[in-house]
Amino acid sequence: MCGIISYLGNRKNAGKLIVDGLKKLEYRGYDSFGFVEAVPSTSSGQRNGKFKLTKKVGKISEFPSSTFHFPLSNLALGHTRWATHGKVNRANAHPHLSADRKVAVIHNGIVENHAALRKELQKKGVQFASDTDTEVIPNLIAEFLKRGNLREAVRKTAKKLKGRFAFVAMVEGEKKLIAARNGSPLIVGIEKFFPKSDDRLISKIDGSAFFIASDVPAFLNFTRDVVYLDDGEMVEIEPSPKKDHFHAHFFEIENGDEIKKRVISIDWKAEKAEKGDFAHFMLKEIFEQKETIERALNQDERQIEKVAGLIRKSFGTFFIGCGTAGKVCATAEYLFAKIARRHVNVIFGSEFDTQEPFLTERTLLIAVSQSGETADVLEAYKIAKKRGVQTVGVVNTEGSSVARHSDVVLPVNAGMEKAVASTKATTAQLAILTLLAYAVAGKLDEGRQMLAEAASQINDLLNPRYSEHLEKIARKIKNVESLYIIGKAADYPMALEAAIKLQEVSYIHAEGFAAGELKHGPLALISRGTPLIAFVPTGEYRADVLSNVAEVQARGGRIIGVSAENDDLFDEWIRVPNVGNAQPIVNIIPIQLLAYHLAVLRKNNPDLPRNLAKSVTVK
Ligand code: F6R
Repeated sequence: MCGIISYLGNRKNAGKLIVDGLKKLEYRGYDSFGFVEAVPSTSSGQRNGKFKLTKKVGKISEFPSSTFHFPLSNLALGHTRWATHGKVNRANAHPHLSADRKVAVIHNGIVENHAALRKELQKKGVQFASDTDTEVIPNLIAEFLKRGNLREAVRKTAKKLKGRFAFVAMVEGEKKLIAARNGSPLIVGIEKFFPKSDDRLISKIDGSAFFIASDVPAFLNFTRDVVYLDDGEMVEIEPSPKKDHFHAHFFEIENGDEIKKRVISIDWKAEKAEKGDFAHFMLKEIFEQKETIERALNQDERQIEKVAGLIRKSFGTFFIGCGTAGKVCATAEYLFAKIARRHVNVIFGSEFDTQEPFLTERTLLIAVSQSGETADVLEAYKIAKKRGVQTVGVVNTEGSSVARHSDVVLPVNAGMEKAVASTKATTAQLAILTLLAYAVAGKLDEGRQMLAEAASQINDLLNPRYSEHLEKIARKIKNVESLYIIGKAADYPMALEAAIKLQEVSYIHAEGFAAGELKHGPLALISRGTPLIAFVPTGEYRADVLSNVAEVQARGGRIIGVSAENDDLFDEWIRVPNVGNAQPIVNIIPIQLLAYHLAVLRKNNPDLPRNLAKSVTVK
């Protein structure tokens, strides 16, 4: 939620850097955006460090850089918003200024006690200009600045805030950026890092320029040297006594003590985050599944065996995830039962707190997350850590909070996923959980072989003709009001996942059911022409699922069968290869394509669906 980026350094086009960075962060939020540049003194000496504020409603990608006039500036901050408090309008867009217009702040997260803080400030005569929770932050800083320096003002402000947040502040006339984190991600990028020794664990870091952003892609064109801020930490960037150098200094929010942070060189490639010849990131990422599933299998064998050992030893294994990742977790229940004859618990991240009474040091928590920053998952981690539970992260984003706080990490290796709707990360996660089930059964090699075979079948399947076939089906159903998806066993969570994919990009009402459940109620929703997508297996359960399909067909439903074999009941047949226990991975791919084509045909932007954002860092 909400993308944030700020810059202080030697370059004189800070405003342009911020706008370019925000365009890379748009997947985080895209209802409005804004930035502040500190304008240095002019020949008349009038604008020494004065703020130039720009705010717009809409997607930043729809505004070419020529829209803006960028003054010379080496200090700026910007924000792309996903609204939490307050409508989408210019006043609520960030950055927010203090009432005296001296402090500018960008913020990601939610200030839970904003109403009380607002009242407190109003009593002191502060007038508010927006409906946001954020606006209390610059005003608190401005109040504390009356009696102290910026670092202390920010520290005291951060201590007063309740909830999950990350914010960056600057003050008119001061060449400084200062940021604090508690719950939402914040990463410092160092352009031209000047280490004093080989030691990368340092409290004061020298560089030619610094970025502070919510995500790495915002500054990936400039540096791969980063410091991840942890909860309860803050950073101050200012000019160093050395000419043309700046430094970053790290502190604890609680008591202001200096802390040492590690500079990490990350292995991300900027070009992978571009969409190339594809019309949209979603389509590009669907097609990348030709390689990503194989890459996911390329796990360190010792780590997989280690996690398998932890599962065997545990008294209660919980798989947790949210949204699509939650549906991936739900397949684990079936896969582990079938392949490893082992029961595992599955629960959404936001529900995990209800299980606290059952957590002990013998419990194992396996979190599945693309971003590694989902607040509901991180809250679950807090509870788990409190109870001494061991944690395993199946994570796509290197250096993310889940990756850093897990005892063991199984990297998803899908590469950056930019489209809001998850596709390639989903199938890579499914592959890893399937592999893990085989490892628990003591059959890791067999699992790897089976999955490698499935990956090669997916490579053959994903071609333009297949996509055209899905587009044709999409044309036939593009105007329906509702559609339903059914599956049995591990295909049931995939029916739920198919529904999410269709809902989020096509905006058609879609719902997934366990195949045998239709007759217990939802069958009443079927009328002439209602589409039913059915995952129909070839072996075990085929007869069962086909009888459920027949019940829908008898009531006029239009049947779209996803199966390795055709059947007379199908009005449309979506062919998929028969890949045994990897079937859920293969089955979801045509539905991703179908959702994509429906979105395009209905004139929706599949990469940036309405009301959503890529990583959900609020509870
Ligand atoms: C849907 C989708 C979301 C995410 C969910 C969890 O396509 O992408 O449902 O799966 O918000 O996000 P991560 O995996 O980043 O924890």
